[in-house]
Amino acid sequence: MTIQWFPGHMAKARRQVQEKLKLIDVVIELADARIPNSSRNPMIDEIISSKPRLILLNKADLADDTKTREWLSYYKSKGIKALAIDAQAGKGMKAIVESCQELVKEKWDKWKSKGVTPRAIRVLIVGIPNVGKSTLINKLAKKNIAKTGDRPGVTTAQQWIKVGKELELLDTPGILWPKFEDQMVGLRLATTGAIKDNILNLQDVTVYALRYLTEHYPNELKERYSLQDIPEEIVELFDEIGKRRGCLMGGGMIDYDKTSELVLRELRAGKLGKLTFELPADWEAVE
Ligand code: G4P
Repeated sequence: MTIQWFPGHMAKARRQVQEKLKLIDVVIELADARIPNSSRNPMIDEIISSKPRLILLNKADLADDTKTREWLSYYKSKGIKALAIDAQAGKGMKAIVESCQELVKEKWDKWKSKGVTPRAIRVLIVGIPNVGKSTLINKLAKKNIAKTGDRPGVTTAQQWIKVGKELELLDTPGILWPKFEDQMVGLRLATTGAIKDNILNLQDVTVYALRYLTEHYPNELKERYSLQDIPEEIVELFDEIGKRRGCLMGGGMIDYDKTSELVLRELRAGKLGKLTFELPADWEAVE
């Protein structure tokens, strides 16, 4: 579900997450491995303050493995614990539990030294819409828990879900907003399907995606669309793909909307291979 975020919504979503923080020991921040920083909330550090945090790069099955490793080193260099997972297939679940245990170890050891048996670690999952929060909760819970809508302001009774003996998970995740103001971030979010196709112009998003692929994944692009060479002019690239895939209008003209839909659908489904659309270096320049 796509939501429009207004300042009022953002403040409310933030308040809701902060209220839940009081109940928990560890925040799991879910991001998209294809666009790790663009899929994170720009105010997350402020929102979760000093709570122990684990970043999970989800949908790692769709991301470029080399780039994912680069991102994991980047977070490590910043002193943030991060893991790559595939929530849909349930890959990386054990490592999540272990990482949460490491994050609370000092506190738990203190309790133990005072003779107190530590309770299960209480965890909250936060992230922007479509990043895989419900999928992850269901995988960890090993059952199907109904999805509660991405509308900011929806409140339901809180329940704890047991994950083995070690963890307890709040059943409703914290929903955060991405960084809308930055055009590049918007294009990356639209490319991966994190924001729906009626928010940004479909052809603009495809132009961005095709340019990125031309620069970073030319072989994948050539192979998928049987191209000998990649034309320099973007309109010619559209024409080639449209022609080869039969995205035509009356009179044999290329249908650019249809071509855009096809390219984005295939890219998001992983048909062009495992792709990552931003690198730590893109952010180091901004920082
Ligand atoms: P949310 O609660 O954060 O909003 O996200 P949700 O779990 O609903 O997941 C959004 C989409 O992402 C779902 O696709 C889900 O299957 C997919 N997804 C989640 N984790 C992974 C992963 O690790 N790998 C891959 N490849 N996909 C993942 P969907 O049901 O098809 O929804 P949609 O495409 O109709 O939005």
